[in-house]
Amino acid sequence: MNVDGTPFRTIWRSDDGWSVEIIDQTKLPHAFETLRLCDVGDAARAIREMEVRGAPLIGATAAYGVALAMREDASDTHLQTCYETLLATRPTAVNLRWALDNMRAYLLPIAAPDREAAAYARAVEINDEDVEINRGIGKHGVEIIRALSEAKGGGRVNILTHCNAGWLATVDRGTATSPIYEAHDRGMDVHVWVDETRPRNQGASLTAWELGRHGVPHTVIVDNAGGHLMQHGQVDVCITGTDRTTGTGDVCNKIGTYLKALAAHDNGVPFYVALPSPTIDWTLSDGVAEIPIEQRDGVEVSEMTGRTNGGNIETVRIVPDGSPVANYAFDVTPRRLVTGLITERGVAPASADGLAALFPERVLKKGSA
Ligand code: MRU
Repeated sequence: MNVDGTPFRTIWRSDDGWSVEIIDQTKLPHAFETLRLCDVGDAARAIREMEVRGAPLIGATAAYGVALAMREDASDTHLQTCYETLLATRPTAVNLRWALDNMRAYLLPIAAPDREAAAYARAVEINDEDVEINRGIGKHGVEIIRALSEAKGGGRVNILTHCNAGWLATVDRGTATSPIYEAHDRGMDVHVWVDETRPRNQGASLTAWELGRHGVPHTVIVDNAGGHLMQHGQVDVCITGTDRTTGTGDVCNKIGTYLKALAAHDNGVPFYVALPSPTIDWTLSDGVAEIPIEQRDGVEVSEMTGRTNGGNIETVRIVPDGSPVANYAFDVTPRRLVTGLITERGVAPASADGLAALFPERVLKKGSA
């Protein structure tokens, strides 16, 4: 997508041909800065510290992390070590494991002297594939928005989204935002309610930033406003992303997604999830019981960082000293609350049969990725 007229992806190979550059998302929306990743340790830090975040981008970064590791040492031992280092960075988004499994399976049969070049080539492919997948989600998802627009006689379609499932969460285009950008670019009148998404504010800081840069009308709301807006007919459709969706259609996404789905269900508002196929965990069937939920440092809850009127970035404490905090980063929305899954191959019902019809080559089988 364009940033002030210049096309950017969130991650790319530097001009030097080997290091990798990223947009440092911890600095947005107040500063647009890039960072250079020079080894697998840099890649692991970038994922862990959320300089890159969002399920697809985590996977894309891990793929480049393996390439950086192969540049240092292309042995089987180092391949396994870097696999484990990168896998340990964040537990919930399954794209991380998907990308690492893909890279390892691709590289193991290749002789060590050829692995570095092969690893970069495969990482580039994984990154390019992500963009194509997101274009597919946009192509299918825009039909949902078009139908809503036609039902309103061409009137404005109000879409609620949670967290950042935009281009910043992927290599480009985004998942939940891809149909929105598509609709906007085709001239449909769309407006996005952007949940702020405490505690890290990916909605307020990232989704609002990227929608604004692309000229998409939007309004930032507190996380608790969605139910009220739905009761008053102000939301035509919810579209969120996902960090892991079971082969049966249970959706894990940023904490608070479940509450939006409940409110949508109670108010008859369609609730769609944009789902790239690498985010499907075919080994799991019960999302609530089986998906590991990341718990992050409580300081993300007890403190907030922002720009002062004087232009300085400052962090302040908002919780009394001594009060314990808990920081669950994701929750699971059961499939019964999901209207449909927007994938690169079409829109599926949130069910094992629905996903199997779109991805017949995959078999829901415990223990196989
Ligand atoms: O903790 P984050 O910022 O990595 O969480 C991101 C989300 O929950 C997104 O909604 C999800 O990864 C889908 S991104 C296309």
